Amino acid sequence: MRLLVTGGTGFIGSNFVHYILKKYPAYRIVNLDKLTYAGNLENLADIKGDSRHEFIHGDICDQDCVRTIISGGVDAVVNFAAESHVDRSILDSREFVRTNIEGTRNLLDISRENKIGRYIQISTDEVYGSLGDAGAFTENTPIAPNSPYSASKASADLLVGSYCRTHGFPAIITRCSNNYGPYQFPEKLIPLLITNAMADIPLPIYGDGLNIRDWIHVQDHCAAIDAVLHHGRTGEVYNAGGHEELPNIEVACRILAALGKDESLLTYVQDRPGHDRRYAIDSTKLENEIGWKPVINFADGLSETIAWYSGNASWVKHVRSGAYLKYYEEMYGNRAWERRRPRLRKATKA
Ligand code: NAD
Ligand code: DAU
Repeated sequence: MRLLVTGGTGFIGSNFVHYILKKYPAYRIVNLDKLTYAGNLENLADIKGDSRHEFIHGDICDQDCVRTIISGGVDAVVNFAAESHVDRSILDSREFVRTNIEGTRNLLDISRENKIGRYIQISTDEVYGSLGDAGAFTENTPIAPNSPYSASKASADLLVGSYCRTHGFPAIITRCSNNYGPYQFPEKLIPLLITNAMADIPLPIYGDGLNIRDWIHVQDHCAAIDAVLHHGRTGEVYNAGGHEELPNIEVACRILAALGKDESLLTYVQDRPGHDRRYAIDSTKLENEIGWKPVINFADGLSETIAWYSGNASWVKHVRSGAYLKYYEEMYGNRAWERRRPRLRKATKA
């Protein structure tokens, strides 16, 4: 099998490239990535020179580039490429619309033109919007995105679905909950908290810290995509989640405890506008139909992730420099900072 993986130098994409090459030694991967601030060839340094992996520096919106790759012989496309951070989409949504919607359209058209046998759109649970205290998102939950990021991902999903129904295009959509693990860029909650704590920098907690996310280790997400790629039904949507719902403040306190740091580093800051309160994923369909289930529990996955960041100081140093420092200042510099007692006990009782 020759796979086109887009966005394969980012967090999940690079983990997926590693996962596939390890599990299927005969597979070939063409990795198309624009190397935005989130793309990082260091994530693939260990497979440099491996002839099964070909990296192409390019944009999924570039018709000629995508056509050359796909017409050169590709059996399946797995589209990870995206602008992926909610906070950045609030500052400026243009690249989100361009890459996430127009880039997906370009991949769909050229894949269709070349009669690609399988196309996997890596979507997100954020397209479902925000949950109240009870229940979980199923594949039938109506789409109700709240941020420009999730609206762009939902738009792409609608396009993919329309190509399946109108053109009989062989696509499948996956919607996963919050990933964590090695190689995640430290703009996202868990790597940001770990790397701040390692450097004794305050840990910014949005709002009351009681927003809930359903955490899944990136390896479990890669296994879900593998399952869908090989056994999923065309035209379907599959949810994947970790069954590990936690309030943000509890995640922060666990990271501080694991690193032996004081809770006085916790700092409440102004909330994210339109902040989704709670995500929880019901992945019964994927579990019953294909037999996938997450196997890494959050306690083990978090310790392993903290150990990875602690053991990869040069990776951390490279990504937390230059443009990252500028971004950090823009995002957090003017946010009202307020040191408060952590609300962990209240959160865990709820
Ligand atoms: P990421 O931001 O770490 O990586 C995105 C990658 O896409 C980068 O390598 C970047 O260079 C590349 N890219 C961006 N624009 C491009 C373009 N126009 N052409 C080619 N490459 C481009 O993102 P991630 O966290 O690895 O997420 C990957 C996918 O999974 C995204 O589609 C995201 O919506 C989805 N997802 C993420 C999570 C999560 O928790 N991180 C959960 C569910 C779904
Ligand atoms: O659910 C899947 C989604 O998970 C993916 O589609 C997105 O690509 C990914 O970014 C992630 O979105 P979130 O907005 O949930 O992730 P983030 O890491 O940005 O934030 C997680 C929670 O932590 C959220 O409630 C906001 C909060 N937060 C985040 C940051 C960066 C803080 O309290 N402080 C912070 O500094």
